[in-house]
Amino acid sequence: MVMTDLLEQAFSSEVFRRQGHQLVDRLADYLQQIVRRPETLVMPGYEPEELLREWRQLLADPTPVPFTELVEKLLQQSIHLHHPRNCGHQVAPPAPITALAELISALLNNSMAIYEVGPAGTAIEKAVLGWLAQRLGMAAGTDGILTSGGSLGNLTGLLAARQERGGCDAWEEGAHEGLPMAVMVSEESHYSVARALKIMGFGSQGLIKLPVNERLQVRPELLDPILQAARAKGQRVIAIVANACSTSTGTYDPLPEIGEFAKKNDLWLHVDAAHGGAAGLSPKYRHLVQGLAEADSLVIDFHKMMLCPALATAVLFSEGGALNRIFAQKANYLLPEQVQIPWQNIAQNTVECTKKMMGLKIMMLLKTVGEGIFAEYITHSYDLANDFAAVLKAEPDFKLAVEPQANIICFRHQPGQVPAGQWGRYNAELRRRLIAHGRFYIVQTVIAHETYLRITLMNPFTDLDDLGELLAEIRCFGLQVSQA
Ligand SMILES: Cc1ncc(COP(=O)(O)O)c(C=O)c1O
Repeated sequence: MVMTDLLEQAFSSEVFRRQGHQLVDRLADYLQQIVRRPETLVMPGYEPEELLREWRQLLADPTPVPFTELVEKLLQQSIHLHHPRNCGHQVAPPAPITALAELISALLNNSMAIYEVGPAGTAIEKAVLGWLAQRLGMAAGTDGILTSGGSLGNLTGLLAARQERGGCDAWEEGAHEGLPMAVMVSEESHYSVARALKIMGFGSQGLIKLPVNERLQVRPELLDPILQAARAKGQRVIAIVANACSTSTGTYDPLPEIGEFAKKNDLWLHVDAAHGGAAGLSPKYRHLVQGLAEADSLVIDFHKMMLCPALATAVLFSEGGALNRIFAQKANYLLPEQVQIPWQNIAQNTVECTKKMMGLKIMMLLKTVGEGIFAEYITHSYDLANDFAAVLKAEPDFKLAVEPQANIICFRHQPGQVPAGQWGRYNAELRRRLIAHGRFYIVQTVIAHETYLRITLMNPFTDLDDLGELLAEIRCFGLQVSQA
């Protein structure tokens, strides 16, 4: 068979070599420019419709575009996560080696569903999960999978809860019989937990919200009365979900007390540790996740506090057998019965069939840089948050919403000239102006019905000078807003 010109070109190793070198050189320059140059804007100032029009026009035009031109366009139009003044959401600025690992993974494209189609990837995944479980102090029988994101990870943990504590074989027979199932969930949980329960057919009634204290932590003394009230209403409570830490404010729930309660009442404990579970790798902050290792299931995102690009989430089960029961599936073309050694056939244990070789970037980071990077990164980020909180407390025109436990800080500007009733609207408007200006990226949240500014210190190159500049900009845009 004769290859067409286009196929020849698309698969040319020489073209790949040339473009690859160009790309790595350009990205290295980009990193150099972004990491230590606060004058570069964090956010591109494009309007969504403008960008859509531009890319549509490009697509409609049959003229080829040079690879380097496309790369420039992307760099220009993207938010810069390696910029020290990007303090927005909980997305890691990836360590560059992990991006190289993604390149290998993309080209090899081993699809991971079963051992045969991803031998190294499958073994690496098992090894990386074992490493993480061990570092967290989990029991020897722990097992898990890597999956595409914390949201899918939470769904996976809750599916296990239903199978293991629902009192029925939900997988084979459905969950139609008996009392309606419900799960107790912190009021501060990530929305993916509520979504998972709705996907599972629990409805709004199936999510029992747990009130929090002034630090936004679940109140252990309320667990028993809430459980009794739910049971009296005819609900079959099967699980409890705790945060380590919460998304909005970075608050850790009291895991030992919640764990004890769960055990006593035969409830499955799922801990959403997507952001804050990595604290277990920092000797200084490990105490925050005390009790995590005893959870029945937990999730930790490598693309949050473990310096990897999206996506890679560890879902760990302290009793590994649970993992093999939740998704038991027959597929004669892929999962013939004679090769049912669970760890070798990952597709059997997860929602996904084809998936990326997610463990590779973690393995590469661990083996080329060393695992000490995690302790260093987490300790530095959490320390910086504490230092910044101290700065805020010393400024009379700022208010810290909650004492930070992680690297998430919520606060607001409340200068004397703005009436108290308007602080929420005032802060939202000054944030809008500040991010449109582009020198910082920060976000906002609502705590106890009040709007606060929210920053997450994900970038190891952010320092107190950057944050001092941020306060100066907030005051400056604040003045504009109050005078408008
Ligand atoms: C606590 C927590 N859980 C789950 C998620 C969802 O993770 P993902 O975006 O990887 O689906 C997030 C995302 O911010 C989170 O903060």
